[in-house]
Amino acid sequence: MTTPTERAVIFGSGTRGRDAFEALGLGAAIVGFVDNDPLLQHSTVLDRPVFAPAALATLDFDVVYIASSQVELIREQLAQQNISPSRVRLAPHLADPTAPPPPPVVENPLSNYIDKGFKEIAGWLYMPAVEATLMLADIQRAHLAPGPVCEIGVWEGRYLSLLSFLSATPQRVVAIDPLIHGGNRDAQLARLKHNIATYARRPDLITLLERDSKEVSPAEIIAIAGGQVQFMSVDGDHTMEGALHDLQIAEAVVAPGGIVALDDIPNFSCPGVTEAVMRHSLSDANQLAPFFLVANKLFLAHKSHCEIYRQAVAERAEARQAGEWGQRMLEHRKRMKSLNVPVRFLGQELLVAA
Ligand SMILES: C[S@@+](CC[C@H](N)C(=O)[O-])C[C@H]1O[C@@H](n2cnc3c(N)ncnc32)[C@H](O)[C@@H]1O
Repeated sequence: MTTPTERAVIFGSGTRGRDAFEALGLGAAIVGFVDNDPLLQHSTVLDRPVFAPAALATLDFDVVYIASSQVELIREQLAQQNISPSRVRLAPHLADPTAPPPPPVVENPLSNYIDKGFKEIAGWLYMPAVEATLMLADIQRAHLAPGPVCEIGVWEGRYLSLLSFLSATPQRVVAIDPLIHGGNRDAQLARLKHNIATYARRPDLITLLERDSKEVSPAEIIAIAGGQVQFMSVDGDHTMEGALHDLQIAEAVVAPGGIVALDDIPNFSCPGVTEAVMRHSLSDANQLAPFFLVANKLFLAHKSHCEIYRQAVAERAEARQAGEWGQRMLEHRKRMKSLNVPVRFLGQELLVAA
């Protein structure tokens, strides 16, 4: 039991941490919260500071209450910081036998998405595009700091869940979709939320704007994301006007070195998307240009970065790190070279894994 003189730290500053604060009530003097998430450190929760775990070495406290689903990992982490197990307790509300069991801890959430989520979540996304997206994010790490991501047109979250894994460290994710195409908005929203909760990396960092992208400004996206985005998926309105508008949003919100994935190129069920990327490229003010096409997705980057990414993708394919689509891409390049037909699109050489 806690005593009123006990000085306590709560490990976990999210919902469980707040619940622990309530549950401890006046039974303990709460020194503050501790959280492993750098995005939450140095903030305040319930008027108490949120510290990085390293600060435990300097804080004056009697006991740490774990208020997180990662109980065993945190116990190990505290042991490594030489905090005696006798000073570590499970938060009272989590120890309550009538409390609902915590969700199972998934050892490797990205593998969980690839092995299960990709198959379970309905949507339009093919495995080569998943592999290519992960490869591009890996290549990107050498060229820009981890940043947020954004998707226009999320449907039930198949690509969105993958996008949440792209940054080297967990970052904010902005999802924009008016949820108008499913016919039953409530059912679609429930499936989207379930899929995100089950398969995304950090569901708490995802903000859903249930709006038409024409009602969302680049400034609003940047404000919610906390900065320019490192990766943006454009897969919303498939008319020429809609896709052109969304490319202009992408142009404004993507950081230098950022990557845009434009879906449904080429797809002659919705030729307006192809027309949109062509019209977009006609303006000199626009900096985005295409460099790579795989499984219905056209990847674009700032003109200053297209060659860097193109070369890195080709090198990985040559090193057989790109799966079967990488070999198709190299064969296509070789064949077109032998025919003396340069493969160029909108002023750039294009890698094509058709
Ligand atoms: C092809 S689906 C997106 C698929 C999704 N990216 C996935 O991974 O499965 C197109 C989505 O765009 C949304 N959409 C249509 N018009 C939109 C608009 N103006 N702004 C934002 N989203 C829109 C639709 O509601 C639909 O959910």
